[in-house]
Amino acid sequence: MLITNIKGLVGLHPKDKLVLRGEEMNNLPVLENAWLLIEDDFIKDFGTMNDIPSQISSLPTQISAEGKFVFPSWCDSHTHIVFAASREEEFAMKIQGKTYEEIAAAGGGILNSASKMQIATEDQLYRSASIRLKQMILQGTGAVEIKSGYGLTVESEIKMLRVIKKLKANFPIPIKATFLAAHAFPSEYKNNQQAYIDLIIKEMLPQITAEKLADYIDVFCEKGFFSVEQTDQILKAGAKYNLKPKIHANQLSISGAVEIGIKNNAISVDHLEETNEETVFALKNSSTIATLLPSCSFYLGISFADAKSLIAANVAVALATDYNPGSTPSGNMNFVVSLGCIKLKMLPEQAINSATLNGAAAMEISGTYGSIANGKKANLFITKPMPSIAYLPYSFGETQIETIILNGKIYNG
Ligand code: NIG
Ligand code: FE
Repeated sequence: MLITNIKGLVGLHPKDKLVLRGEEMNNLPVLENAWLLIEDDFIKDFGTMNDIPSQISSLPTQISAEGKFVFPSWCDSHTHIVFAASREEEFAMKIQGKTYEEIAAAGGGILNSASKMQIATEDQLYRSASIRLKQMILQGTGAVEIKSGYGLTVESEIKMLRVIKKLKANFPIPIKATFLAAHAFPSEYKNNQQAYIDLIIKEMLPQITAEKLADYIDVFCEKGFFSVEQTDQILKAGAKYNLKPKIHANQLSISGAVEIGIKNNAISVDHLEETNEETVFALKNSSTIATLLPSCSFYLGISFADAKSLIAANVAVALATDYNPGSTPSGNMNFVVSLGCIKLKMLPEQAINSATLNGAAAMEISGTYGSIANGKKANLFITKPMPSIAYLPYSFGETQIETIILNGKIYNG
């Protein structure tokens, strides 16, 4: 497939550039008036229309992209899209002034999703998650991470992870699975938290790793959820099974989560709505990625992460949706990129790099996805005609995406 007359071919980072840190994130290389050749699943070559070789310009399958931009697909490195039911009753509670913690304490929140998960079948979960994932792909997402964490029993955690495994087998995009049994303490373990941690370590971890159901391990390290010591214990147990951490850190308070994540070689620490100088400093001296989730802040009405300080400290920042029924009922990466600009004060180039190459890095797939380079997978989207790249995040709430290409083929859903 040949795409011609492209107004701007976006995200031309060299193939061996695996992550962008700090100031590097300001640089989003773009080739104007370009062509792009795709062969089978891969990007084969590109150049400018002025010197397109004649054997290429005469190829039969062509898309003319006049006035349009070609982007690498969004890489959404933090989601919880396997869930049994929406929670819009909590939406009304939130509007009436209840906080996330108050709703959770009143039997809502994660435990509400967990009790609905117990009675859902694998088929039901697969069908509803497929609908969400298809919608995300149509909004430009071409790689995704999905967490368990609404099971909270051996059977239900395995059920969720098997659904993710089935999504991996049936969808044309890379999917990473994260084991998040340490999302909340089930109420029967309220007074014996160590017994639940033992269940995670002694029963769940051996079973899910024997079935190869997880790529990463996650803990919701937060006041009222898992303490720093408990997080450390669970991450160390995960490491014995070669599960690297991607953790929920500093969403509601500064908890020591960032530091314990880094100490356990986390690929990423995610959320960081609450960040102080020490957490920025800890990240500055590590290779851990800071994954920010501004649509969670938007929906819950909590602080927005301090992207500017993180970037100034030379940290690698990624953007992701956090799509889940409680704190972010949306999987729209275009909106996340807009919020990155509007609320996190990221420049469009920084936000786009964070949602593509750095998102891929937060799933350890940036050698193959997340930018446009010869030999990388052709997971791309073509925009509608736009005046500039900045127009995409600027026109928030509108979709600028016209055509989705996955593995070198047009995707229609
Ligand atoms: O990332 N903070 C923990 N987990 C999710 C929310 C889960 C829920 O409310 O169902 C999050 O925001
Ligand atoms: Fe999350």
